[in-house]
Amino acid sequence: MRFFFAPLAIAAACVSAVGASPSLISQRDVDLADWFLGSVLSFFPNHTGWETGYAAAFAPTLKASFNQPLYNYTTLKEFYAGVYDTVTTEFTNFEVSIVSVVVVPNTNDLGGLITLTGVEGGPLANGTVLTAPDSAFAVVSEINGSRFITEWRETTDFPL
Ligand SMILES: *[C@@H]1O[C@H](CO)[C@@H](O)[C@H](O)[C@H]1NC(C)=O
Ligand SMILES: *[C@@H]1O[C@H](CO)[C@@H](O)[C@H](O)[C@H]1NC(C)=O
Ligand SMILES: *[C@@H]1O[C@H](CO)[C@@H](O)[C@H](O)[C@H]1NC(C)=O
Ligand SMILES: *[C@@H]1O[C@H](CO)[C@@H](O)[C@H](O)[C@H]1NC(C)=O
Repeated sequence: MRFFFAPLAIAAACVSAVGASPSLISQRDVDLADWFLGSVLSFFPNHTGWETGYAAAFAPTLKASFNQPLYNYTTLKEFYAGVYDTVTTEFTNFEVSIVSVVVVPNTNDLGGLITLTGVEGGPLANGTVLTAPDSAFAVVSEINGSRFITEWRETTDFPL
């Protein structure tokens, strides 16, 4: 079974995770990072209601990949539904913690580019803890005055 997953979450950890001097971080960076990390926590499919977060975060025109396979808005959502089923049946708890975040806001709108890395996993029902590094690259675009993720590239070697 080759599954998984992992967008990253951890809402408030935000830009401080980058390790940059606070004086080099603009309010635009903070706003984009807060929106993004909050969105990721919301659509991370380890909890009921993740679909609501998914609909709010991803643009209908989404281009995505999870390792090699390519996805669109509909098919990534189906994939996440499978992740939710697996994570909630096989793990007693499944979480993600952010290791690094790089945020580059666009100069002319609410969008930007974001790269993050994290570690995901948790204990299986038999007590064995499985964790793996994970990374994601996202393009955030302003559509109708709001932020949406229009491109999402996630890679992990989660050993399930
Ligand atoms: C996504 O791809 C599937 C399978 O190719 C297709 O049926 C569906 O219409 C596409 N959905 C979107 C939103 O592009
Ligand atoms: C889902 O993951 C987040 C981020 O790691 C964690 O804070 C939360 O407790 C998890 N929720 C459940 C229901 O496991
Ligand atoms: C728990 O299950 C996993 C997956 O089947 C297995 O790799 C691991 O060895 C098991 N751990 C124990 C303590 O049996
Ligand atoms: C933006 O607005 C147009 C026109 O109302 C609508 O068709 C489209 O679905 C909206 N896009 C998003 C991502 O909400």
